[in-house]
Amino acid sequence: MVGCAGAARVGDVAQSIRIGLIGCGVVGTGILRLLRDHAGSIESRLGAPLDIRRIVVRDASSARDEVVPRNLLSTDAQALLDDSEIDIVVEVMGGVSRAGELVRAALERGKHVVTANKALLAEQGDELVTLAEARSVDLYFEAAVAGGIPIIRVLREALASDQVVALRGIVNGTSNYILSRMQSEGSSFEDALREAQAAGYAEADPTLDVNGGDACHKLAILATLAFGARVQPTDVPTEGIESITAGDIEFAKRFGFVIKPLAVARQVLGASSPEQHSTKLDLRVHPALVPQDSVLASIPGAINAVHIEGAMLGPCVLSGPGAGALPTAMSVVSDIVDVGRNLLIGAHGRVPSRAFRGDRLKTIPIQDAGDHRSRFYLRTMVRDEPGVLAAIANVLGKNHVSIEQMFQDGSDTPVAVVMLTHEARERDVTAALKQIDALANVVSAAQAIRVEH
Ligand code: NDP
Ligand code: HSE
Repeated sequence: MVGCAGAARVGDVAQSIRIGLIGCGVVGTGILRLLRDHAGSIESRLGAPLDIRRIVVRDASSARDEVVPRNLLSTDAQALLDDSEIDIVVEVMGGVSRAGELVRAALERGKHVVTANKALLAEQGDELVTLAEARSVDLYFEAAVAGGIPIIRVLREALASDQVVALRGIVNGTSNYILSRMQSEGSSFEDALREAQAAGYAEADPTLDVNGGDACHKLAILATLAFGARVQPTDVPTEGIESITAGDIEFAKRFGFVIKPLAVARQVLGASSPEQHSTKLDLRVHPALVPQDSVLASIPGAINAVHIEGAMLGPCVLSGPGAGALPTAMSVVSDIVDVGRNLLIGAHGRVPSRAFRGDRLKTIPIQDAGDHRSRFYLRTMVRDEPGVLAAIANVLGKNHVSIEQMFQDGSDTPVAVVMLTHEARERDVTAALKQIDALANVVSAAQAIRVEH
């Protein structure tokens, strides 16, 4: 589409693209550093300089990095929204409620918006994109998923002629950092989380990182773009990494696996009748055992990776820094350049924010989590008494769960009984674990982790 909001500004924007920045923490400061260090090359690519006009924060008096122009700081978001000279509002403050109000207000005033806020997009993306389309402005969000990896652009533009069959990835840097440090350095969960926070990887509330909520938001966004379907965070069964112990990491290694925080979205053909197949989406966020020689097993620290399977393309992996100030700032500023290019030619909406036109998004049924089939890693802590292994094996067998490998670890009671199952239905494994937990010699609830190939 050409015309409308951008067209009236073509004369002005040749002088500069004017930006209002909301939030100047890890990512906002990274944006200012990048704009300072790359100003010349950005202007050469864009044809106009990027000009930060206002910066809104929570506390304008607090200490800031030397790249932050203090004269632009204020707590007055309204003044930024009312500034008719600002072309693009960049939201990097986080949270859903207030950020949503500000983004909505910016779009309503005909300002383009760039955001890194996956929680906001996952919760309110449908409403905000619809509003942006109605107001003939762009809403871009490359940094919202996998930090510096250009995964949104790939799904939106590079794969426009393909159909995505499946996506599997590590999309939360903090949880990958924690598990990697526990594995490679023997760090405690708490120490590794503290390091991730100090490095600027974690959310303001890191609960979302470790309980899978952040990855769930990102998967909802990715699945919408990949499958052209409206996907809500509530559609994604989500488990965090909080229950993974150093023992689980060690036992998984003995079976030839590494534990990684995965997000999975794939199309499954469900046979509704022998003649007719109906497609469903299998969506999951959980830690998983991946083979030691797989690509995802080798992704360390805060690095993210997304393995895409395209019907025509086949397999393709994108990997890189998934969090942190500069990789994330790079994605935000690349979006600003894209919007700036649109502004300079008086265009908007050339590439739909969600890859598919809003009026063509589908509703695809979600597969029941209980129907998922995989191998499972199971660990249960038991009093080492005669008959306990037989009792566990008996319960698994009765529930159609077959054991592939099993060992007992430890000499002091309780000991760990660790098993790898053959492929089994999740519903059957859940039923079996409930019965195992109730056995006389079992001392605590069993750990179950899916195996992903
Ligand atoms: P920070 O907590 O470091 O920074 C938040 C900034 O927003 C601060 O400058 C804060 O002001 C300001 N702010 C918070 N609330 C308000 C408010 N109500 N009104 C005005 N300003 C406010 O967060 P990050 O920079 O780490 O993250 C920002 C966004 O980017 C989040 O949505 C996050 O999910 C996303 N993101 C972060 C990545 C990362 O690696 N950190 C990677 C990808 C996305 P003050 O400085 O005064 O406290
Ligand atoms: N807290 C997020 C993470 C930031 O650790 O991946 C990047 O979205």
